[in-house]
Amino acid sequence: MRRPIIAANWKMNCTVSQAHELVSAFKGLVKDVTGVDIVLAPPFTSLVEVAQLTAGTDIALAAQNMYWEESGAYTGEISPLMLKDIGCSYIIIGHSERRAYFGETDDTVNKKLKAALHYGLNPIVCVGETLAQREAGEPTQVVGAQLQGGLAGLTPAQVNKAVIAYEPVWAIGTGKTATTEQANEVHSFIRQQLNAGFGEATAQAVRIQYGGSVKPDNVDELMAQPDIDGALVGGAGLKADSFARIVKFED
Ligand code: PGA
Repeated sequence: MRRPIIAANWKMNCTVSQAHELVSAFKGLVKDVTGVDIVLAPPFTSLVEVAQLTAGTDIALAAQNMYWEESGAYTGEISPLMLKDIGCSYIIIGHSERRAYFGETDDTVNKKLKAALHYGLNPIVCVGETLAQREAGEPTQVVGAQLQGGLAGLTPAQVNKAVIAYEPVWAIGTGKTATTEQANEVHSFIRQQLNAGFGEATAQAVRIQYGGSVKPDNVDELMAQPDIDGALVGGAGLKADSFARIVKFED
């Protein structure tokens, strides 16, 4: 059985004081939750605050992006070593907003993924097709190519440490969720790709999250699907009660 993993990607939201308020309320609501990995991904500026607030709990910390070098003349960038140092255990890599607005490619995803693994950060690797690509009947081609490029050169043992987040771009922040069948179909395709590239044991071990307008009222149905092992949540992760309800999904 794969352990479910529910993560909140705060994107570019929350000042430190807002982060403080959100996490203080959230941690009280989930203190009795067991059997699910909970991950919070605040912006860089709130990571230390959230690390302090969640110390002694099972809530894990993620960053939303990083560079692949350890240190050096890379103005404006943050390294995996720095993230590890302040208590991050996960890193989101290749989110579609980074691909669309900040030039992220499968090649940079691959470099970041290797760096994350080297520094002991668990990567959450995002893949997903745009609306035009879905309408052209290509969701699996697009996701297949992103996986192939993103995971190139990794060993099965390395891939085992990764989480894959399937996020159809047309479902992000739009209120449109993929139907559970649409989502599960791509999830099972991802598992087949992992099987072909890295073997059955890895394909069965890797957790695949769904992301794109996950809300308290659709999470149960999504999590009931056999190949959906978790959720990467944007908007609904910014409210303590709605994210707590998502974490307490019923399947
Ligand atoms: P959303 O974002 O839940 O607001 O659609 C999901 C994501 O981009 O990770």
